This record gives sequence, C-alpha cells and structure tokens, in this order.
Amino acid sequence: METLTAVKTLYTHLICSKERDIYQKDRLQTFSEAGKPLLAQYDLEAGLERKILRDRPFDMWRYRELLPLESDLHKISLGEGGTPLIPLPETGKRWRVQQLRLKDEALNPTGSFKARGLAMAISKARELGAKVCAIPTAGNAGGAMSAYCAKAGLEAHVFMPRLTPAVFRRECEYFGAEVTVVDGTIGDCARKMRANWSPGWFDISTLKEPFRLEGKKTMGYEIAEQLDWECPDVIVYPTGGGTGLIGIWKAFEEMEQLGWIGSPRPRMVAVQAAVCAPIVHAFNRGMDVAPPVERPGETIANGLRVPAAFGDELILDILYRSRGTALTVTDAEILDALAEAASREGVMLSPEGAAVWAATGKLAATGWIRPDDSVVMINTGSWYKYAEQC
Ligand SMILES: Cc1ncc(COP(=O)(O)O)c(C=O)c1O
Repeated sequence: METLTAVKTLYTHLICSKERDIYQKDRLQTFSEAGKPLLAQYDLEAGLERKILRDRPFDMWRYRELLPLESDLHKISLGEGGTPLIPLPETGKRWRVQQLRLKDEALNPTGSFKARGLAMAISKARELGAKVCAIPTAGNAGGAMSAYCAKAGLEAHVFMPRLTPAVFRRECEYFGAEVTVVDGTIGDCARKMRANWSPGWFDISTLKEPFRLEGKKTMGYEIAEQLDWECPDVIVYPTGGGTGLIGIWKAFEEMEQLGWIGSPRPRMVAVQAAVCAPIVHAFNRGMDVAPPVERPGETIANGLRVPAAFGDELILDILYRSRGTALTVTDAEILDALAEAASREGVMLSPEGAAVWAATGKLAATGWIRPDDSVVMINTGSWYKYAEQC
C-alpha cells in the first residue's frame, strides 16, 4: 500500500471569498480584511488524476494533495472520514425516491462530521506554530477540537452553551480542555471567548479559520467517489454555520477543475430549526445576506441554534446557484424522523441528521424532490450523545 509521506499538497495560497485578494499561506490566518472567510486555493492545473487514489486507505487523507498540510509530520489523525453512504431503498419506496442514500457521519471520531474539519484545522494550526486553540461551540466541534488538541499537545479552550447536553462538556474535560459554560447561544459563547481572550490564543471559530472548511470538503470528494464520480441530484444538509454545505460545494468545484467530474451539480438544500432559521428566512426573501435572529428559541438540534452565520453570503450564493432550497423543521418533526429512521432503517440519527430526514420527506411529498432524483441526506452526528434528550 502506498505511504502518503511523500505526497505533496497542491495548496498555493488563500483568497478572500468576497474581494478575491490574496493571503499568504506561511503564517496563521483568520479571516480577510474585508471581514469574510478565506478560501484555500490549489494548483488544480497540475494534472492530478483520480487513479492516485487507488490503494490509498479510505479516510479523508486519501485526498492528500487537495488538503493544505505541507508536512505529514504535523498530521493529527484519529481515523476521520471514510464514512458509509448507505442506500435506503425501503424509505425511498415509501417516499417515491428511487435513489435515496444516507451519508453517515456519526461514525467519525468523537461522533460527528466536525472531526474532519478539526483534524485539518488542528494539524494546520500546529504546523503554523499555534500553541493554544479556542472555540465557541454548540457541542460537537468543541469535543472534536479538544480531542485533536489532546493528540497534538496543544492547549484547548472551549466555550459552550449551558443548554448543550452535559456529555459534550464532559468529553472536552476528559480531553483536557478548559471548558467555560455560557448562558445563551453559540453567538454568546463567541462574545464570552472574546471577553476572556488571552495573547497567543488562536481562534478556531467556524469560517474565521480557513482550514476546517478544507476538512469538511472531503465529504464532497467522498460522496462523488462513492457514486462512481457522479454527483447526486440533491444533497440535504443541516445548516448552522454552514461549513459542510460550503465545503461540499467547494469540493465539487475543485473536482470539476481537476477533470474528475462533469459540470452537473446537486441542488443543495439547507435545513434549519423552526426556532432559529436565519438562512431560510433570507433565502425565502431572495436576500444575499442573512440578518441575525434576535431571540432564537430552544431546539434539541443544538448544532442548528446558530443565530448568525459568518458564511451567510457563501451559503445563500450556493443555494441560489445550485437551484437549491432552504426549509425548517420543528422538534416534533425531528423526533418523529428519529424514530422512523431507527425503526425502519436501523440507523440512529443526531437531531440535526433527523432534521435532514424530516425535511427530505417533506420535499419528496411536495414534489420538489422528483422520483428519479438521486438524493443524499447527511447525518452529521451521533444520537448517542443526545440519549438523555431524545
Ligand atoms: C451534529 C451537527 N450537525 C450540524 C451542525 C451544523 O454544522 P455547520 O455549523 O457546519 O453548519 C452541527 C454544528 O454544531 C452539529 O454538531
């Protein structure tokens, strides 16, 4: 089997997602001077062929050239990525969708897709000299960051809403992180983090650090590869800060430039909780930015309680360009979906994944999803961490 130590990244530089100006890759970067996310760029003209993947382990590092790490000496891995794409013919039959599949991200280290982003971000932070990492989190990202910091030997500071189930706090503490519990949402956690800021900390907040996105994009590479280099017609994603949605789309753009896939793209669907739906609100009004939700209600889908997404413009642009849509679900619908997925298909979904399940059922019922569409639902996390709540 090929060892990846000799494989070089094609990463060249960062650009501002809005102004397109260039940022150097040899130092820690956060976001652009225009206050927008930075996007990693690669030399996609280098003639990289799909056959390089042959014989590589099925984990996220098989796309090594398309990840920004310069040296494998700094690679911090717990076995992230390589999750199954599970066919659901029975549910597909009931919903009248011929090709329905579930990408089950619950099987990642620390039980969520956040592992991909944090494996990448912490590897890169270490490579560029960070010693202390700080994050506001709904729960899963904090656990993943703490785990990778533990393995990397970095100090971790986590700011988490009081409403987040205790298991999320306890795992961070086991990993050796300093956890601050905050009254309010992830937005309040970010404010608290800034108030407690110490020199030398590095901010790993969603899209305020460029490389979580690069880890998350590997979901897009995997989905295309698992479908034999065809894009599905529809991808349904539970959207909080939106890194997964933006990352999957970035993967498709890169793969087309590499010549790995053709130009057809999936219609991207953002699912949010009815009590906190800034993206759905903006999408329904045709807006390019999403005004923050002032007083978000409570939901069992913690990851969807994000009143203001830093990447709102990118998310909305992708929804419009892909001819996608955005919709909300209630907690009651989430609980029904969870029970249905478990009893009929043998899969346990996180509340966020159950939100996707409920939304997909609705879109099939209204005809927005057509019988001949190939549909991928993303279950972003494990139910087992929420066992006390649902
Ligand atoms: C299980 C789960 N799903 C979805 C999300 C939302 O992810 P993103 O912020 O990348 O949109 C989160 C974020 O906390 C999560 O933990």
